[in-house]
Amino acid sequence: MDSSPRNTRIGLITGLSGKVLGLTVLFVMLGEGLIFMPSIANFRVQWLKTRIAQAEIAALVTEAAPDEMVNAALRDSLLKGAGVEAVALMREDKRSLVLKPDNPGMVEETFDLRGGQYYTSVAPAFAVLFQNHDRLINVIDKPPAMTGSAIEIAVHEWPLRDAMISFGLRILALSVVLSFIVAGLIFAALNRVLVRPMQRLSSNMMAFAQRPEDLSRVIAPSGRQDELGLAEHELEAMQRQLHGLLQEKTRLAALGLAVSKVSHDLRNMLTSAQLISDRLGEVKDARVQRFAPKLIASLDRAISFLNQTLTYGRAQELPPRREEVAVKPLVEDVFESLRLQAPRIRFSGQVPPGLKADADREQLARILTNLTRNALQAIESRPQTQDEIAISARRKGREVLIIVRDTGPGIPPAIRGKLFGAFQSAARSGGTGLGLAISAELAQAHGGRLEVVESSEAGTVFELCLPDRNGAARAE
Ligand SMILES: Nc1ncnc2c1ncn2[C@@H]1O[C@H](COP(=O)(O)OP(=O)(O)OP(=O)(O)O)[C@@H](O)[C@H]1O
Ligand SMILES: [Mg+2]
Repeated sequence: MDSSPRNTRIGLITGLSGKVLGLTVLFVMLGEGLIFMPSIANFRVQWLKTRIAQAEIAALVTEAAPDEMVNAALRDSLLKGAGVEAVALMREDKRSLVLKPDNPGMVEETFDLRGGQYYTSVAPAFAVLFQNHDRLINVIDKPPAMTGSAIEIAVHEWPLRDAMISFGLRILALSVVLSFIVAGLIFAALNRVLVRPMQRLSSNMMAFAQRPEDLSRVIAPSGRQDELGLAEHELEAMQRQLHGLLQEKTRLAALGLAVSKVSHDLRNMLTSAQLISDRLGEVKDARVQRFAPKLIASLDRAISFLNQTLTYGRAQELPPRREEVAVKPLVEDVFESLRLQAPRIRFSGQVPPGLKADADREQLARILTNLTRNALQAIESRPQTQDEIAISARRKGREVLIIVRDTGPGIPPAIRGKLFGAFQSAARSGGTGLGLAISAELAQAHGGRLEVVESSEAGTVFELCLPDRNGAARAE
């Protein structure tokens, strides 16, 4: 495993925190920009309405004068005080009073503030900001003091523009301050709620990746109820699974080495046992004569099996060397060696004499030995008066079915689901948990399968199915 730590330093700008901060500032400014449009429009309308109110007062003063006439000096100071160029007051749609300088300028545009909606005033407001010369504009509105039906003023635009610019700058300064305050708050909240837990997750992943065999590095979920909590749970499950797998692999590697060592020395020991049993064959006793060939044959098989394991040095089985195997004698052989171990148990074989399977003789014997040995161990863990191990076999089309039945206590529920995996063994059986894994692998190599058909307090039934090879014609 790569033990050198990856470059995991993330800068403030490129990191999640920096991005969150940048985006919040951007969005708050955007929000402020959207609010700015109606507020600048409103500012313009209010500014003009103030002028109109002042112009109305000027008009009222003029009305109070005798004959509604004022001299030029008073008129100019009234207009100047109101901040407008000219005023006209209308009564019943007639201009009843006009206050204007001697040589008024040219009016360039007229605005009617009566009944204006705010959205229609946004565009004229922005137009003011982009004017390149000081226009004279006409503004019509209802007089605030209701002295007539309408009031009309002429006013220069640049004072309005200057006021709008300084208002805009004030708003901008406020927006900047506001956006940083809001962004800071959002940043702090997001940092706490999202970024930190995320950093915890990623730093845990890196720590675990460096030493996945260290169980203390598995993440401890914080118990939060959101997507991050879910991610923590999933990560925990994944890390535990990985840890388990790694342990199994380590164990397998160690076992592989052990198997090689054991096979090596065991082969030597068996070779000397073989020499002795050869001598035993010469003894003229009838019982010795009956068992000695079997003993020699099993020793032969054991030695050649060990040789195979050593030569190939791998856990994988050789491909089956298939031939027509008579099932009945094979079952008899298996029973015979079991009978020596457990004379009390009844062994019953129901195999048609002519039944032949298209299989590797050695491997089929190993499968049956494993299944019957398991059955024997199960029975012995709970002896009853009428214990039995039965093997029956039959042909079904192009398949041979071999059924092994026992009266043991059944497969412990804890390992039922993963029975055919390596190292799945009930603690009390004292086995390595490889027997069924090997048997299933051998059956699969034949294109067949090994299954538990039934398992209860009353006993267990395994079914082995061995199909014929394609093209291997056979008759019952
Ligand atoms: N016929 C059976 N009845 C009850 N339990 C069984 C039976 N066959 C298998 N088992 C259970 O399944 C487990 C796995 O069997 P398996 O043959 O793979 O391993 P093992 O017998 O424990 O060890 P070994 O590698 O020495 O065979 C056994 O430990 C046993 O608990
Ligand atoms: Mg076993």
